[in-house]
Amino acid sequence: MENKASMLTGNANGEPANELILVVSDELEFSQAVARMARDMGVYSEVLIYEDKEGRKNENAAAGKIIGEIRKKKPAGIVFIAYNETKTGKLILDEIENMDIHMLFTIKPDEREMRSFLFNACKCSGNWNVKTFVENAVENIRNTVGNKRVLCALSGGVDSSVSAVLANKAIGKQLTCIFVDHGLLRKYEARHVEEVFRNQFGIDLVKVNAKDRFLEKLKGVTDPEKKRRFIGEEFIRVFEEEAKKIGNVDFLLQGTIYPDVIESGMESRPAVKTHHNVGGLPEKIKFKGIIEPLKYLFKDEVRRVGEELGIPSSIVWRQPFPGPGLAVRIIGEVTEEKLEILRDADYIFREEIEKAGLHRELSQYFVVLTDVRSVGVRHGKRTYDYTIALRAIKTKDFMTVDWVRLPYDILAETVYRIVNEVSHVNRVVYDITAKPPATVEWE
Ligand code: XMP
Repeated sequence: MENKASMLTGNANGEPANELILVVSDELEFSQAVARMARDMGVYSEVLIYEDKEGRKNENAAAGKIIGEIRKKKPAGIVFIAYNETKTGKLILDEIENMDIHMLFTIKPDEREMRSFLFNACKCSGNWNVKTFVENAVENIRNTVGNKRVLCALSGGVDSSVSAVLANKAIGKQLTCIFVDHGLLRKYEARHVEEVFRNQFGIDLVKVNAKDRFLEKLKGVTDPEKKRRFIGEEFIRVFEEEAKKIGNVDFLLQGTIYPDVIESGMESRPAVKTHHNVGGLPEKIKFKGIIEPLKYLFKDEVRRVGEELGIPSSIVWRQPFPGPGLAVRIIGEVTEEKLEILRDADYIFREEIEKAGLHRELSQYFVVLTDVRSVGVRHGKRTYDYTIALRAIKTKDFMTVDWVRLPYDILAETVYRIVNEVSHVNRVVYDITAKPPATVEWE
């Protein structure tokens, strides 16, 4: 039976308090899959990872940390998945057994076992879903913010977009979004962001046209790391300047999602991302608090929430796009002319992939403007123009990546259109390298 009162409890960051199932494990990836399995069955679930290192001395402390969390969270049940027999695991297990909490001790629960545990043993009602999540999150944001103001750095990426629309639903004009157009976005992207957030959702959006500033900073810069650093620094500077104009703001809204939270709680953080999103926390502005409404959601749940909120699929299903934008897809110096070539070629490739209906299947597909020029011939005349590289990849986690065996017809049509519709390109190559050894981006 639905329990409205308990559904509306929870904390400021959208963590529902009812019917919590904890997945306690020494393994990161599979435990997340199990948590998702419970959520798909309508039961809200979180992951607690304990780590065991060779020769570790403080198992008691490690176990104590987990036990403390369990006591604090008061779950309806615990799925305990121990891959290795370790002292920490044993300490936790002994303690749970003393706690009088339903426990499923397993290596790999199947659906039936999980259902039986959730609904027969723990007597969960299974009322957690995207709709109730949105209701909760809206209520929680309202309670936290009161009549204060909230600032958000909107990038047009999935996480910041969903956070912004959710907060807008909760507090409307108390939210201001700053969207910095650094001039390194894809074709029509800046316009689209404006259209969706300002016109469709009526969000108070400040769009900053900072293209010239960024291009000036990037003049003569060829080193990829320098490009990243300059763009990151400039982004924060622009954001801070704009925030100052807005005046007193109490909260910062951020699109943090659950995998980042789980990993940041681990001692041996997996080396997933070495690069930071452009739009890292501005340090000079002091906020009373940070609001992270998606802090407990997995990526696919964020997308479902986005759909529930009516955000267009072009944003909800947007492929990952690096913060430094097209700057890391232009090898060598970034100039306006090169940006235009890259934007046009990239747009054609994306159109062809979408036309073929492959856009949801691929993890990422884009175009790189190499620094190579080569000899060609057009209308009987010699040309000396740029080489474009196409990249299309599939991956689960972006740690290892495979290139996609695109049908020749799609490649042929893309290349035909690029060399005919985009000036200064006379050669196109297809990148068929996996990661490792190649990264997804060329820079
Ligand atoms: P790599 O090139 O490291 O890319 O194999 C893995 C994923 O991360 C994205 N990427 C970035 N994202 N800032 C970002 O926000 C960056 O500087 C950056 N560099 C790469 C890349 O597009 C891919 O999805």
